[in-house]
Amino acid sequence: MSDVTIHNLERRREFWSVHSAAACQGATVPIDHHIDPAWFYDRDVLEIGPGEGRQTRILKGMAANYAVADICQEVLDRFPNLATMLLSGYEPRTCPFVDTVTFWYVLHHVTRSEGLQFLKFVHSCLHPVESSLIVFNSCRRSGGAGDDGMITTERSDREIRELLEEAGFCLKHYLKSQSGQLHDLYVASLRISHG
Ligand SMILES: C[S@@+](CC[C@H](N)C(=O)[O-])C[C@H]1O[C@@H](n2cnc3c(N)ncnc32)[C@H](O)[C@@H]1O
Repeated sequence: MSDVTIHNLERRREFWSVHSAAACQGATVPIDHHIDPAWFYDRDVLEIGPGEGRQTRILKGMAANYAVADICQEVLDRFPNLATMLLSGYEPRTCPFVDTVTFWYVLHHVTRSEGLQFLKFVHSCLHPVESSLIVFNSCRRSGGAGDDGMITTERSDREIRELLEEAGFCLKHYLKSQSGQLHDLYVASLRISHG
């Protein structure tokens, strides 16, 4: 199996076609951290895993252009007025096209063995300049939901920082959730080597 393949892809697609509605998001909440509009304002933005669009609704008005990517076509079908990208793997793109990539309550659905490849894919979507950003939250939740193939992966703050470093990002901003351990906020820029 190629290391850019998504584990259990068909079962995951099936799961999210039913469970990505806001009502299925349990204890998670739409962005409750301080969002700096500068991370999105007048930028070309890609959101991965928009679900029902809780974050999309808040962010897309700030952006110059807004696109959504997901492993599930039914999720993308909710956004007929946006550019969409169906993900079948995390093959790095040869053509960067955005200034900001954002994803909310998604990283814990990327398996441990796929985390680095996922972030390298994110990296490849971003213009290779220091001002390019990723903005995302973590969700400290692990386990499975029965036999539907939806094993989730809990990553510690240290593990997320190591992944960012390895994928070529430089952490710029971190906000620990005050309302529980569910969702810390990370903002990182591309690490560009000078000289
Ligand atoms: C928990 S929902 C979060 C939805 C939305 N961001 C929100 O906060 O309401 C996870 C979203 O990520 C997508 N997703 C799940 N696993 C993924 C993966 N491995 N790679 C990319 N997207 C994934 C799902 O289809 C769904 O849209």
